Amino acid sequence: MTIRRFLKRTALTIVILAVVGFIAFLYFIPPLTMVSVESLVKPEAAAPPSLDDIKDPAERALAERGRYLVTVTGCTGCHTPQGSAGPDWDDYLAGGGKFIEDGSGSAISANLTPDPETGLGRLHDDEVLRVLRSGVFPDGHQAGARQMPWPAFSKWTPEDRHAVLVYLRHLRPVWHRIPNPDPHATVGDPQAIDADYGADYGVKKRDR
Ligand code: HEC
Repeated sequence: MTIRRFLKRTALTIVILAVVGFIAFLYFIPPLTMVSVESLVKPEAAAPPSLDDIKDPAERALAERGRYLVTVTGCTGCHTPQGSAGPDWDDYLAGGGKFIEDGSGSAISANLTPDPETGLGRLHDDEVLRVLRSGVFPDGHQAGARQMPWPAFSKWTPEDRHAVLVYLRHLRPVWHRIPNPDPHATVGDPQAIDADYGADYGVKKRDR
């Protein structure tokens, strides 16, 4: 066998092995549809509180449904404070994500825990449901759809929005004051959001 032929055969073998290997790789990875959504969002699913203590079975079922929705629709990504090592699970859903967009100004994601002073404890059920349904806040402003994706939540059934509310009412209260949005900030000034809120979120937590 000439060297040329040898090289040709070797190259052909390598190509065949690579193709067979790639097909085997595709064959053995589980299709995404077989991966349960919950397994992709384990920390959220495991985040406190446990809902087992809710006595009323109907309320517990609603809260479980709410937790499922909150977990798989990504409220956490915006509403859980981010530390340097990722989400700060101790302050699960206590708010603090900064958003800025031309036309909608700047806003910081709200504290969704039931704290009566700085969280959803200050709002009636109807007020919370209205934010989810139409993005309209109690003070009358409407959140930018890309800052708080209420157009997606407005397509849910009223039962699903209610379930989310029931779940949020059972979270551990965290005191975390969130500044009001600034409708006039523009992306053209990248410093605007830090100027508005302070580089360190501008949100100081009270010692708990
Ligand atoms: C893309 C980021 C983002 C996602 C995802 C998101 N939010 Fe928000 N949310 C925000 C921001 C920002 C605000 C504050 C907007 C403002 O002040 O105008 C907010 C405000 C709220 C408020 C108003 C609370 C108050 O104190 O007035 C509620 C309730 C809320 N979000 C619930 C949810 C729920 C429930 C989910 C998931 C189903 C969710 N959000 C997903 C960014 C987000």
